[in-house]
Amino acid sequence: MTQKSRSNRRFRSQDWFANQAHIDMTALYLERFMNYGITPEELRSGKPIIGIAQSGSDLSPCNRIHLELARRVRDGIRDAGGIPLEFPVHPVFENCRRPTAALDRNLAYLGLVEILHGYPLDGVVLTTGCDKTTPSQIMAACTVDIPSIVLSGGPMLDGWFEGELAGSGASIWKGRKQLAAGTIDEETFLEIAAASAPSAGHCNTMGTALTMNSLAEALGLSLTGCAAIPAPYRERGQMAYRTGRRIVEMAYLDQRPSSILTREAFLDAIVVNAAIGGSTNAQPHIMAMARHAGVELSADDWMTYGYDVPLLVNLQPAGKYLGERFHRAGGVPAVMHELMKAGKLRTDRTTVTGKTVAENLKGKETGDREVIFSYEAPLKPRAGFLVLRGNLFDFAIMKTSVISEEFRARYLSTPGSENVFECRAVVFESSDDYHARINDPALGIDERSILVIRGAGPVGWPGSAEVVNMQPPDALIRRGISSLPTLGDGRQSGTSDSPSILNASPESAVGGGLAHLRTGDVVRIDLNAGRCDMLVGDAEIERRKAAGRPDVPASQTPWQEIYRATVGQLESGACMELAVKYRGVAHTLPRH
Ligand code: FES
Ligand code: MG
Repeated sequence: MTQKSRSNRRFRSQDWFANQAHIDMTALYLERFMNYGITPEELRSGKPIIGIAQSGSDLSPCNRIHLELARRVRDGIRDAGGIPLEFPVHPVFENCRRPTAALDRNLAYLGLVEILHGYPLDGVVLTTGCDKTTPSQIMAACTVDIPSIVLSGGPMLDGWFEGELAGSGASIWKGRKQLAAGTIDEETFLEIAAASAPSAGHCNTMGTALTMNSLAEALGLSLTGCAAIPAPYRERGQMAYRTGRRIVEMAYLDQRPSSILTREAFLDAIVVNAAIGGSTNAQPHIMAMARHAGVELSADDWMTYGYDVPLLVNLQPAGKYLGERFHRAGGVPAVMHELMKAGKLRTDRTTVTGKTVAENLKGKETGDREVIFSYEAPLKPRAGFLVLRGNLFDFAIMKTSVISEEFRARYLSTPGSENVFECRAVVFESSDDYHARINDPALGIDERSILVIRGAGPVGWPGSAEVVNMQPPDALIRRGISSLPTLGDGRQSGTSDSPSILNASPESAVGGGLAHLRTGDVVRIDLNAGRCDMLVGDAEIERRKAAGRPDVPASQTPWQEIYRATVGQLESGACMELAVKYRGVAHTLPRH
């Protein structure tokens, strides 16, 4: 962009700092920025003021690398002729936030909307990493609609334990089973956990974090190749610098999320999510981002555009490798290159690079076929989410690509009724109830059981918990049965490889069919027809409905109460429903 066209651009920050009609306020707006050395000349120069939404802190270890990266972002902003102002966003740490980090996605969203609307900012760098830190910031960027670019923090280095790759989360799930089977002790379990987290960065498996950062790139919100660079690699700092430079250009061009986040972009995100073996949490997060962007997506879109897309990426939990190898194999651009060649993407849409997807992907073919498979000879077929319906819920998803051979042989291979099976329900009211009773022989859990959990949705938990991937009783694991069918109105970790039926909506706490299921009922699952039903007569279901719903625990904090009163269901993204109607709020300036 030429100097001349740059000088024609007036930024919203000048309404604070150079507004003749409110010159009385200007001194007040300016003076306190001086106390750390910023000069009035800078703030009144007419240059864009760029926010750095800092998600790193001691409470967000997965994003803590951003405290370092922000220096390079600032350098880039300055070199390109902008003025950086860094500020904190609400921390969301997946593994440690109780009762669940999901509770904070909408809170971080809400906080960032207020900052971007209420302060003199002309563009923003979103610093993403841990699971919810990516969708929450993108949702806010959609609501506000100022120029926005995503800088991922990047995955941790690959973890190793006793000569084998130890992936985030995946190592924990495996270690828990080994602990239950008595093949390792507690000390070894902790050693495995530590080995799986060898450096700065977010989860190095294709869990929710790497999924969401990959999808941010697929949507066109980050520079090409950003998502997969491991946090400690030199390219990460260089990406931070280039991201800082680019956002200044975007501010001058007034390139906003609304011009990037079209329905085409979200359909591509659904396709890419399947190809990378993305987390089941991508479903509510994609829905939430789309709704805040004003894009219509339906449950059918997951089947129409995603289900048949094969698995191309050989990363844990669906495959073998971790983040470093993914980056070296070409990362997201190399995956999208395969999808583009297969005609599966909408590649003439624009991105934050200022170029189209097709232009960004030029020459990005992978050189490592062990990690990124071709579309014609994929790792597995049909890697998208199967959408299920029935009398237990209106919507739930299942990641059928992670079904193991053992599971397939046991449940899905009956001649004449392949992919159809019936199980006896064992119902848990919460994860506390599950932990208290799972090893109780009186429940009679065997290989014909389905473990069901309710009270785990957005309202019930509150926040929707990652609890559906329930482990079988220890006695069954010792007999070699390492997984049972599971079903619930909560979610499961993106690092888990359980073929659970999850995100069931509406949840039991708001009267979904799951509320009326009882231990001993037969549940029939038909993967061909996308059905999941309790074989209980309508009259009996009506009788049970009259008996009321299971209790939900009381809210423990004010936000839990506000969250419950405003949240929707997982099917539609568990958004703060009243927020969805606000769009482009940056364009109505707040009052002086
Ligand atoms: Fe933060 Fe996985 S726990 S990225
Ligand atoms: Mg998680």
